[in-house]
Amino acid sequence: MPDSLLQKLYRITKPALFRINPERAHTLTAAAMRTITPFIRDAHLARQKPRIIFDRKVFSPLGIAAGFDKFCRAPLYLHKLGFGFVESGSLTPKPQPGNPKPRVARIPEQQLLLNKMGFNNPGFIAGWQNLRTRLAEAPHQYQIALSLGKGKDTDVARAADDYVHCLELLRQDPMSEYLFYIAINVSSPNTPNLRALQKGETIRKLVSACAKVSPRPVVVKFAADFPDTKTYLHSLSAALDGGAGGIIICNTTTDHSIAKIPADLSNFGGGLSGKALAEKSRLYLKETLRVTKGKVPVISSGGIYAPEEAAARLGMGADLVQVYTGFIYYGPDFAREFLGTKGSNLI
Ligand SMILES: Cc1cc2nc3c(=O)[nH]c(=O)nc-3n(C[C@H](O)[C@H](O)[C@H](O)COP(=O)(O)O)c2cc1C
Repeated sequence: MPDSLLQKLYRITKPALFRINPERAHTLTAAAMRTITPFIRDAHLARQKPRIIFDRKVFSPLGIAAGFDKFCRAPLYLHKLGFGFVESGSLTPKPQPGNPKPRVARIPEQQLLLNKMGFNNPGFIAGWQNLRTRLAEAPHQYQIALSLGKGKDTDVARAADDYVHCLELLRQDPMSEYLFYIAINVSSPNTPNLRALQKGETIRKLVSACAKVSPRPVVVKFAADFPDTKTYLHSLSAALDGGAGGIIICNTTTDHSIAKIPADLSNFGGGLSGKALAEKSRLYLKETLRVTKGKVPVISSGGIYAPEEAAARLGMGADLVQVYTGFIYYGPDFAREFLGTKGSNLI
């Protein structure tokens, strides 16, 4: 399929964009995309055959992963570009500035990102206010999910309080019924001790407390960094026992040995995402599907670097797929190519 005008424009501006700090480039691109939204031709998602997932119609199984829309604007341009859903957040109960900058680095030769953002976000109240406005005006074919995280200073022993607090506020607001699902993020590597919540009994109790009050299915997001498969499957089963309504696998990895990290970034730290994560993500997806056996939806995230890889994950049995890093490197035609939607994406 020939490149769209928007894709050509992206190819021309990409070298300049990649010379500036990644976070700044993200803000600039998002602002530009929001400005030109009226001129983006709809990818005609509504013409696609919908799937029913989480009791909702989804017009494309390809969505945007958490962290891309940290400020919960769920911008219309993502829908117009052909994404079927976006997972906004992660939000924590109170606003947080995140870690000191620079906290994102590109490794373009390998289509990778390193990030140590540390849940910079506007806080639950402001984030949800943005989302509910968006939900009120959203065309129903574009599904919006919300990701929740633990506050940086919350002791891990009291972490459940953070999630439950946000869920209780959501339950009191009838607009939350319009959310696609609510993700419980226990796997970002940049919040101290967050990943301790993934452990067997801890995750069962956390999910059970969340599921009791959540207005929408509680979907647990795991990392693919367990010491072995057995330990992962133990945590996965515990999350399902606790009432998880879905699973996202996987978050960024702290295992930097899967890529060739350039010398100037060897001490950067943080979570690795992008192409090199594909193999790990596929492996964990396979294991997850052996346990879930179709009982709850499974969302594949991690290393989806091209539309063909998104299709391959669905072929393996994932119900939905999410992309972040791959979209940054591939450009605006990612979802359009995946859908096989012909024609220009600019009016
Ligand atoms: C800059 C950045 C910020 C992220 N922030 C979040 C976040 O707030 N919550 C979350 O659950 N995942 C977050 N992620 C992880 C992504 O949602 C995704 O699971 C991961 O990057 C793997 O997918 P990818 O290889 O397509 O990027 C973030 C990723 C990046 C690169």
